[in-house]
Amino acid sequence: MRDGGGLILGIESSCDETAAAVVRGGSDALSNVVASQMSLHANYGGVVPELASREHLRNVVPVVREAMARAGVSFEDLDAVAVTEGPGLAGALLVGITFAKALSFGLGKPLVGVNHLEGHIHAVLMEARQRAEAPMEPPLLALVVSGGHTHLYLAQQKRDLARQSDGATWSYRNVGRTVDDAAGEAFDKVAKLLGLGYPGGPWIDVLAKRGNPRAVPFTFGQIKARALPVGVPVVNKKARGVGDGLVFDFSFSGIKTAVLRYVETHGMKQRIETRRAALAADDALKPSSEAVAALCDGETLDLIASFQYAVVGNLLRQTFAAAESFGARGIVVSGGVAANSELRRRFQAEADQRGLPIAFPSLALSTDNAAMIAAAAWPKFVAGEFASDDLGATPQLRLG
Ligand code: KG4
Ligand code: ZN
Repeated sequence: MRDGGGLILGIESSCDETAAAVVRGGSDALSNVVASQMSLHANYGGVVPELASREHLRNVVPVVREAMARAGVSFEDLDAVAVTEGPGLAGALLVGITFAKALSFGLGKPLVGVNHLEGHIHAVLMEARQRAEAPMEPPLLALVVSGGHTHLYLAQQKRDLARQSDGATWSYRNVGRTVDDAAGEAFDKVAKLLGLGYPGGPWIDVLAKRGNPRAVPFTFGQIKARALPVGVPVVNKKARGVGDGLVFDFSFSGIKTAVLRYVETHGMKQRIETRRAALAADDALKPSSEAVAALCDGETLDLIASFQYAVVGNLLRQTFAAAESFGARGIVVSGGVAANSELRRRFQAEADQRGLPIAFPSLALSTDNAAMIAAAAWPKFVAGEFASDDLGATPQLRLG
């Protein structure tokens, strides 16, 4: 590879963002363009798959062009094209994959298929490498927490001394997952239940700052894990033993039901409908957090703060218990919910207390983007792990 090379164009279209980015050597993002469909889907309170595919079709060409122009490189300069192969919406994935395949074929450049979840992990690793002061040494415990996923992975690098360490490929072991709703889904559903906008996570984040997180004591039915060493905090009841370790699963549908029950037993329905109607009337404008907070009484703000406190606490307990159980040397948190301010504060404090390095993505790389896809493709490109001509969409693609 020539000096200054290693240019990978990443393309991402697994859900409701059409994204393209050019990344050099897996670390240096020359451009990162995201066309979000959020406002389109907001009208429906969730992502509508057919609309998503149509929007990806409309956006993929201009988004790729924009990414190339901002990076100041030509298609001939590229060394490879990388694309998300799953998990995600089948029709949405296919748009990115079909475009990437045609481009790589036309240019005669290799194609690299990337797992979206691995991409989220590499968003953080890429930025941690740029910061140099916080090297993340494997094995790492990675929490991927978004609207569609809540997964814990033990990430290890296959050491190959002949290669640069940042070019060695990674392997992943899934050591926890949600058995029902994803954490981001719980944020979105509770926000909807309370008459707030979509996506709900950012609204809950903002409003929780104005409430008392200890007002409503939500619980997750934790029990002590049997096979864990002494001193490990309580873990989820659903922890199940496999192989030589434990699995740290999550469950978020219970807390959603608990919030619903609270709303019903505390006569909050009318207030919620009033808020929903006020926000719907204001639809065209994106309301300010002050305006939305003004539509929430103290009891609602306390409920929101308590919900967030409980969810973050559960994510924190499971993640740190797994890190301890598997002897991880650092923690990586990624996915849309990694943008949550309370999650960042509490995870950072816990990691500092334990002397464990921890890294989060910048806010721009927390949600879906293509820089993370190009970054995750880099070690595969170095190892010559290319996709075959029949690369297709794998909506349920697993990692590890
Ligand atoms: O990674 P992402 O953009 O898309 C998926 O792959 O799902 O994550 C979107 C999710 C949504 O559920 C959204 O409500 C949540 O991330 N989210 C947040 C915050 N920002 C986004 N949840 C809590 N606090 C936030 N600040
Ligand atoms: Zn994602």
